[in-house]
Amino acid sequence: MKAVLASQNKKKLRELQEILSGFGMEVTLQSQVGVDVEVEETGDTFEENAILKAEAVRDATGLPAISDDSGLVVDALGGAPGVYSARYGGEGLDDTGRWQLLLRNMEGVENRTCRFVSVICCAFPNGDRLLARGECPGVLARGANGEGGFGYDPVFYLPELGRTMAELTPEEKNQISHRGNALRIFQQELERYLNGSHQ
Ligand code: IMP
Repeated sequence: MKAVLASQNKKKLRELQEILSGFGMEVTLQSQVGVDVEVEETGDTFEENAILKAEAVRDATGLPAISDDSGLVVDALGGAPGVYSARYGGEGLDDTGRWQLLLRNMEGVENRTCRFVSVICCAFPNGDRLLARGECPGVLARGANGEGGFGYDPVFYLPELGRTMAELTPEEKNQISHRGNALRIFQQELERYLNGSHQ
């Protein structure tokens, strides 16, 4: 199946492409099909935002479109930054500024459990859509470590591995990450869908 990736985040795109091509899917970037859809993420949930993004790109291209809406959910902050992870602290901050702000907001807080969440949506030209959610539990570190990944990876500590997400190789990250988990569920959903009556 050929599908367009709805994301504009280059590092996220690389992770999506790597995993999806391992499934034998032919994935295309928006730029390769001549569209540049930037969707306002107005939903209150990862699911709503993933649907908004996939359907906008599906409508612009007429092709199946795959989106990922993801973020970091911190228990002691009532789930923040959550769907606002990319905008935490406002437009002026970059990835480093955002995790630095998060560490400041968590200073002195003992409960540091958190999780990454990814919701994958595939929107088809006939109006059908598939949704798959993946999570990865962890602990918010007190300082940053590692150069890999992106976003909050340097402060996302994985107790079983004794490393942050940014200290993993791309392959190691894909094996355990929220995005890897969501995409593996998505692969099963897609196979069921394509083998069903919808072909
Ligand atoms: P989205 O583009 O609205 O889905 O925003 C996702 C945001 O969540 C990113 O900009 C990151 O800040 C954060 N995020 C999502 N996935 C990851 C990840 O794998 N590692 C680190 N941060 C992530």
